[in-house]
Amino acid sequence: MRRRIVAANWKMNGSQELAKSLVGDVRKGIAALDNEAEVVIIPPALYVASVQQLLDGVAQVGVQNIAAWESGAYTGEISGKMAADVGCGYAVVGHSERRQLFGESDAVIAEKVGQGIAAGVQIILCVGETLTQREAGLAVEVVSAQLREALKDVSGEQWKQVVVAYEPVWAIGTGKTATSEDAQAVHQAMRSQLSEMGAPAQDMTLLYGGSVKPDNAKELFAQPDIDGGLIGGASLKASDFLAICKAI
Ligand code: PGA
Repeated sequence: MRRRIVAANWKMNGSQELAKSLVGDVRKGIAALDNEAEVVIIPPALYVASVQQLLDGVAQVGVQNIAAWESGAYTGEISGKMAADVGCGYAVVGHSERRQLFGESDAVIAEKVGQGIAAGVQIILCVGETLTQREAGLAVEVVSAQLREALKDVSGEQWKQVVVAYEPVWAIGTGKTATSEDAQAVHQAMRSQLSEMGAPAQDMTLLYGGSVKPDNAKELFAQPDIDGGLIGGASLKASDFLAICKAI
C-alpha cells in the first residue's frame, strides 16, 4: 500500500530551544490533521530523544544518515541498529549532501540501505541529478542508475522498507523547484525502473524534495506518482511545515 508521507529533514539546524518550540507547535498541528499524511520528523541525531518526547507519539522520528557497518571502531558513526534501538522508524540514506560533501558512493549507499533494512527501519533513499546532468537530458538516466546501484541487494519483503525521495540537486535549498510535470515525469520513470528491478513499484511511496513550500506543495502532491515530500528549509518553520502536511 502506498503511504502518503511528509518528512521534515532539519539537516544540521536547531537546538534544544528550537526543538521545543518547533515540535510543540508542530505536534498540535499534526494532532489536528484530517488527512492521511504520515508525518516524520528527522532532526540531528542528538535531538532524537527530546523530539520523540515532545512529539508524544503523534509522529514518527528518523535519522539523517546511518553507517555502512553494523557496529565497531567507526568513530563518529551511528548504526541503523542504534536508530532502531531508540525507536526511530526511518533513516535517510544517500542524501545529495552526503554524496557531494562526504563522498558517499552508490556502493556505500547500498551498504547503508542493507544495514537499515537489517535493523528494521524504513529507508528514505534520496536520488537526484545535478543541473549539468539535467541540462544534458540525463535526469532519468542518472536517477535510474542510482536506484539500480543503491537498491541492488533489496529483494522480496524488504521492498516494504524502502521509500524513495527524488531530490533534484539543483532544487535543494535554492528556491528552484522542479515543475510538477518534470517531477511527475521522473517519478513515473522511477516506478518503471523499480518495477524492472522486481520491486512492487505501484505500492511504493515516492517522495519529492527540493524547495517544497506551502505554495507549491499542493500541485506537486497532486501528481499521480508523487506520494509526499522530504522537506528541508520549510520544515524549520512550524506554520510552513504544517501547511505542507495539509497539502496532502
Ligand atoms: P529544501 O531541502 O527543502 O531546503 O530544498 C530538501 C532536502 O534536502 O531534503
